[in-house]
Amino acid sequence: MDDADYARYDRIRPIRWTGDALELLDQRQLPFVIAHVTCDTSDDVAAAIHSLAVRGAPAIGIAAAWGVVLAARNVAAAHGAAAADALAPAMARLDAARPTAVNLAWALARMRAALVAAGSDWRNVLAREAADIATEDLAANRAMGALGAGLIEPGSGVLTHCNTGSLATAGFGTALGVIRAGVAQGRIERVFADETRPWMQGSRLTAWELQQDGIDATLIVDAAASHLMKGGRVQWVVVGADRICANGDVANKIGTYQLAISARYHGAKVMVVAPASTVDMATASGDLIEIEERDPGELLGVGSNRTAADGIAAWNPVFDVTPASLIDAIVTERGIVHRPDIGAMRAMFGG
Ligand code: MRU
Repeated sequence: MDDADYARYDRIRPIRWTGDALELLDQRQLPFVIAHVTCDTSDDVAAAIHSLAVRGAPAIGIAAAWGVVLAARNVAAAHGAAAADALAPAMARLDAARPTAVNLAWALARMRAALVAAGSDWRNVLAREAADIATEDLAANRAMGALGAGLIEPGSGVLTHCNTGSLATAGFGTALGVIRAGVAQGRIERVFADETRPWMQGSRLTAWELQQDGIDATLIVDAAASHLMKGGRVQWVVVGADRICANGDVANKIGTYQLAISARYHGAKVMVVAPASTVDMATASGDLIEIEERDPGELLGVGSNRTAADGIAAWNPVFDVTPASLIDAIVTERGIVHRPDIGAMRAMFGG
């Protein structure tokens, strides 16, 4: 893709640092209301992450990094190491905002490392680090778009899940970046998006993002995915990730696992697209990942309209783990891990 393509296919930005505050495009209100949440404190940022005003693994890492910059306003310290101690409680509250996406802990660890090494200019160091995390994420997404699109044969159909686009990252997106690049290169003929119950990231966010780009897409209910694949119209299921373990197991939005099972059964391939910041070589396998469970109320209705019978119990895990054996390719900015396992992961990421 060239600059003109990026200008056409990459216009949405969910996170904006104003120099004084963090402005987040409020993803709870899309697609019908375009509103922003202004965060003046790190606890505002933690609340925005927890309530999904900002969401998507890379985006919550970037927001948390700016949260540290905001927390630094209340700290007087002569050098970075002293500031790191003083900022630890605020950073712990940011870290606790959501458990599954490793990008959150990764970004905070990176901010802390920069801080500990900094001298008296530690405030500037922190602000530069947060800006670098965002800039590097955008560059990684563009690199992954080119790599991932290269795996897709011209004339293919793709199915995606959740929202992995500009809204979930610094821009361009991970899996949605591959789809943007694949469409721009004329490789992808059909794009299907799961609505992604219960929070509707697919119907509310992915559908909206693709419309901004002028990319034709067809929305399906999550339960239609197997029926769609049986008809042979999907060659690749292209998804993002919240955490990729040392053995190649992948945590991603609830429903990804069943898509991968169905794809294998129907002869479609599974591509996971995520920056190296989503790779967690310290976690050996997917059964060790904490899976976030959210308020069951999220699935008792559609939006604010209650649809479930009163008194019914509900269980709302919002991620699942797809075993590495069901994944054909993990695409990162460092390169592609084909048929991931512990050896292939170590060869790419060390550890
Ligand atoms: O609960 P969410 O909306 O934050 O979940 C997001 C996902 O599962 C995405 O697929 C993942 O974070 C990758 S975003 C590039």
